[in-house]
Amino acid sequence: MIVVWRITQACNLSCPFCSYDRTRPGPRAEADLPTVQAFGAVLGALQRETGRRVLVSWLGGEPLLWRHFRAATVHLVEACGLAVSVTTNGTALQSPELRAFVGDHLAELTVSVDAVGPQHDALRGWPGGFAALEQVITALVQRRRERGRGPKLRINTVLMRATIGGYDALCRRAAEWGVDELTFNALGGRDRPEFFPEHGLRPADVADFAARLPSLRRELAAAGVNLVGGETYLARMQASAAGEARAVADCRPGEDFLFVDEAGRAGPCHFTATQLGVPLTELGAIDAWRALPARLAAARARCRPAACEDCHSTQVWAKFQR
Ligand SMILES: C[S@@+](CC[C@H](N)C(=O)[O-])C[C@H]1O[C@@H](n2cnc3c(N)ncnc32)[C@H](O)[C@@H]1O
Repeated sequence: MIVVWRITQACNLSCPFCSYDRTRPGPRAEADLPTVQAFGAVLGALQRETGRRVLVSWLGGEPLLWRHFRAATVHLVEACGLAVSVTTNGTALQSPELRAFVGDHLAELTVSVDAVGPQHDALRGWPGGFAALEQVITALVQRRRERGRGPKLRINTVLMRATIGGYDALCRRAAEWGVDELTFNALGGRDRPEFFPEHGLRPADVADFAARLPSLRRELAAAGVNLVGGETYLARMQASAAGEARAVADCRPGEDFLFVDEAGRAGPCHFTATQLGVPLTELGAIDAWRALPARLAAARARCRPAACEDCHSTQVWAKFQR
């Protein structure tokens, strides 16, 4: 079971394609520590009773800037016995002390890197960012090698017109750093509709990418790096590029995957949590948790979100399939 928890909307970078770009106006909500600790205990009990591994994955905003990041992570890992992962822009990992914490507590760490060198820096509004990430990631790899333990290291990349051609070079660079896994997202249009028309992938971009992928995958596998995202994921990318909707009738909400927002609503995915989400305060008992998939499916049947008519939830399209 994977629980992706967006625990803050605040971020320190200004990516023009992202909803949480720090230059955008408006309030930034964050999760509170008691709620996270209480739900961590429920998930821990669920894991013990069912024997199913639970991975809680912090998302943002920028999760490493969330003021409760360390306390919440320690609680979930040490008191609740859960595995914890983070997706980050990596800025905070320039602190050796935070790297040590991450190295000691996380099961997985995903760092967002969109291109090699200045192109990444420009897209993220972070001069020198790529060079800093190179240092940070190689330091994490080295620490893990020295200690014989540490998080699985993954790079996630947003593919857009300007970056998709350079993806192979970025993958090779990441392989030199010693990461374990590479994932990619097609640039989504819902978050920043003003950015998407000029940067969204076109059918020819995806076709060219799909043709390169098998040999790139083989090359990386020979270097011990998994480039994931299979046929289903590529088919979704191709449909999006062609402007074709892909409806999903039943994503089996709450069975293997759950999204929780910073307000403490648990739903099928980040596109539907506001509409279908169940307050975590109603999921305090294991029985309520067990009933959650049926409850979410019934809520969806009563009022089907528009997002389900063209589903862009990456986990539904097997982003992590090998
Ligand atoms: C919203 S960010 C939050 C975590 C963190 N701040 C980071 O940069 O990794 C989560 C992931 O979504 C990706 N992302 C952001 N905006 C996107 C968009 N419009 N389309 C596709 N992926 C996007 C980011 O690159 C990152 O890998």
